[in-house]
Amino acid sequence: MVTKTALVTGAASGIGLACTKLLLEQGTKVAAFDIQGQKLREQFPGSNKNLLSLIGDFSKQEDCFGAIDDTLTHFGELDAVLHWGAAHSSARWNELTAEECNRVLQVNVTGSILIAQSAANVMEKQGSGSIVLCTSTSVLQGVTGGEGQGGPAYVASKGAIIALTRSLARALGPKGVRVNAVSPGITETEMIAGYTDEQRKNMKARFPLGRFAAPEEIAHAGIYLTSEKASFMTGEVMHVNGGSNFG
Ligand SMILES: NC(=O)c1ccc[n+]([C@@H]2O[C@H](COP(=O)([O-])OP(=O)(O)OC[C@H]3O[C@@H](n4cnc5c(N)ncnc54)[C@H](O)[C@@H]3O)[C@@H](O)[C@H]2O)c1
Repeated sequence: MVTKTALVTGAASGIGLACTKLLLEQGTKVAAFDIQGQKLREQFPGSNKNLLSLIGDFSKQEDCFGAIDDTLTHFGELDAVLHWGAAHSSARWNELTAEECNRVLQVNVTGSILIAQSAANVMEKQGSGSIVLCTSTSVLQGVTGGEGQGGPAYVASKGAIIALTRSLARALGPKGVRVNAVSPGITETEMIAGYTDEQRKNMKARFPLGRFAAPEEIAHAGIYLTSEKASFMTGEVMHVNGGSNFG
C-alpha cells in the first residue's frame, strides 16, 4: 500500500522536488514545504487537488507546527514526513565563524528536531506514522569543505542526524512511529553547484558507478522507508551512494 499523505520538506529543489513529484505520480497527497515560496510556485504551477504548497522555515517551531496543522486541515491525515530540506556550508575549519556554525546547526539539526517533533505529536496520537530524515555520505568521509564541498559545520550537522534518528526511533517506536534516515552520496542538485569541473571529474572517478546520483534515485529510498514494505525498519540509515563509500 502506498503512503496516503506525506509532508515533504525542501520541496522546491533537488531531492525534495523529485520526491514530491514521485509521490504525486503514485497518488500520494503531498504537503510540499519550502522556504522559497516563489520557486515552489514555479515548480508546481496550476492547481492539483493532491498538492498543498506550504511556505515556511522549518528551523522555526511555529512554522513546523503550522505546517502540520495545515496539512491535517487540508487532507485530514498525515502518514509520513520526508525531511530533505537543509542548508549547505563549504567553510573550512579555519574560516568558520560562530554565526555560520549556528546558522547551519539551526537549520539542519534544530530544523530536523522541530519538524519531527511536530509530526510525531500527531503520529503518536494516531498510533502510526513514518519519519525520514536526511544525513550525508560526507559524514563517513569527513570531507573538509572548500570549492562547494561540505565543510565541518555541514558535516557535523549531518552527523547529528544519525544520532537524532536513533533517539527518535527508540522514543517513538512503542507508539507505532518509525524513524529512519537516508544518507545520499553526491547528487546532481543545486547543493553541489559550487563544485569545479575538475572536482566533479575527480569525485566521479571514486564512484564505482562512475557518476553522481539523480535526485530521484535518492528520493526513491525515502519513499521506500515510508512505505509498508519497510514496516520492520526503524532507527536505520539507508546509504544510497553509488558505492562511493567502501574505500
Ligand atoms: N546534493 C548532494 O550532493 C547531497 C549529498 C548528501 C546529502 N544531501 C542532503 O540531501 C538533502 C536534499 O539536498 P538537495 O541537494 O536536494 O538540496 P537543495 O539545495 O537542492 O534543496 C534544499 C531545499 O531545502 C530548502 N530549505 C533550506 N532551508 C530551509 C528552511 N529553513 N525551511 C524550509 N526549507 C528550507 C531550500 O529552499 C531548498 O529548496 C539535504 O538534506 C542534503 O544535506 C545532498
